Amino acid sequence: MGIPKKKVVKEESREEVPEESSEDYYEGTVADEEFDLTDLEGVGPATAKRLMEAGYTTLESIAMSTPAELAVYAGIGEGVAQKIIQAARSKLNIDVMSAYDYYQQRKMVQRITTGSKALDELLGGGVETQSITEIYGPYGSGKTQFAHQMAVTVQLPEEKGGLGRAALFIDTEGTFRPERIIQIAERFGLDPEKALKNILYARAFTSDHQMIVTERAEPYIKERNIGLIIVDSLISHFRGEYVGRETLAERQQKLNKYLHKLLKLALGYNLAVIVTNQVVADPSAFFGDPNRPAGGHVLGHGVTARLYIKRGKKDRRVIKLVKSPYLPEGTVEVVITEGGIEDV
Ligand code: GTP
Ligand code: MG
Repeated sequence: MGIPKKKVVKEESREEVPEESSEDYYEGTVADEEFDLTDLEGVGPATAKRLMEAGYTTLESIAMSTPAELAVYAGIGEGVAQKIIQAARSKLNIDVMSAYDYYQQRKMVQRITTGSKALDELLGGGVETQSITEIYGPYGSGKTQFAHQMAVTVQLPEEKGGLGRAALFIDTEGTFRPERIIQIAERFGLDPEKALKNILYARAFTSDHQMIVTERAEPYIKERNIGLIIVDSLISHFRGEYVGRETLAERQQKLNKYLHKLLKLALGYNLAVIVTNQVVADPSAFFGDPNRPAGGHVLGHGVTARLYIKRGKKDRRVIKLVKSPYLPEGTVEVVITEGGIEDV
């Protein structure tokens, strides 16, 4: 699977909604509204209808799917599916690309401010698009607070460190609180009502549901100009449902598939993904901190950057960058207030 060369986040979509706009939320791009599935080689009106009904309404969604997936969901033959996917990919210029093109793609990476200068610096400027950032830590360490905060900061205009785009919040634990969004939005000078309208919220009740919700969200990513997908928490359902050693392989496979899905969305739509994760105690750790992120190697390899958050003194939190493809490890201290996460 290559990386789409096309920048899917349309500049003009941002321009359509200036800061002073009376619009209540960011409208996504409308470019693909004129896109007709029958323009794709191998797609007649009947197949187009099936694809549409199965939720494959954009070129990206088709290009990023596998032949088996497309065949099952759209009820078409795998051979046909393969051809359609190829056609969509070539229209989008996906698949093999030169290092130069990949460099161009990387140059489109944007960063979302965390609301803390220290934390932004640790992250090389903020949370990156085109990748998955994980934040793990014990109960009450502030993972969900961080998630709330980012759902707001992504909405800030670019000159204030945001993307001027909306957020998708996938809540697996039922801990999303709109009231918190209001408080955080006020701190950042955003209209709380608009901030709430710019967060698409989905509650996921099982790991299967979590996967389906994420898949179903795809048309909205485009429509609503989503710049950040949050999954809080990534792993709780997986851990709750797959207990015992004999189910571990299956769980890890599914988790791997899910992470791939998220990464494809991140690349395809130049958006950021933040997942929260729990900790497990490592009994073999004699010295130091025994907390390890749950999810094992699959998660360790699947995420691009890893942050570890734990309680410090009073309202303080210690955040450590434990994995990044190109940034040095480091630790910062922040504080959680009514307005969210802030510099000490
Ligand atoms: P689990 O989901 O249980 O694993 O924990 P978590 O890491 O998601 O913790 P969460 O982000 O929910 O953090 C909860 C903590 O944030 C609380 O214990 C408070 O210390 C802090 N907190 C939440 N809201 C406020 C607030 O309005 N003001 C202040 N000062 N602290 C807050
Ligand atoms: Mg939480």
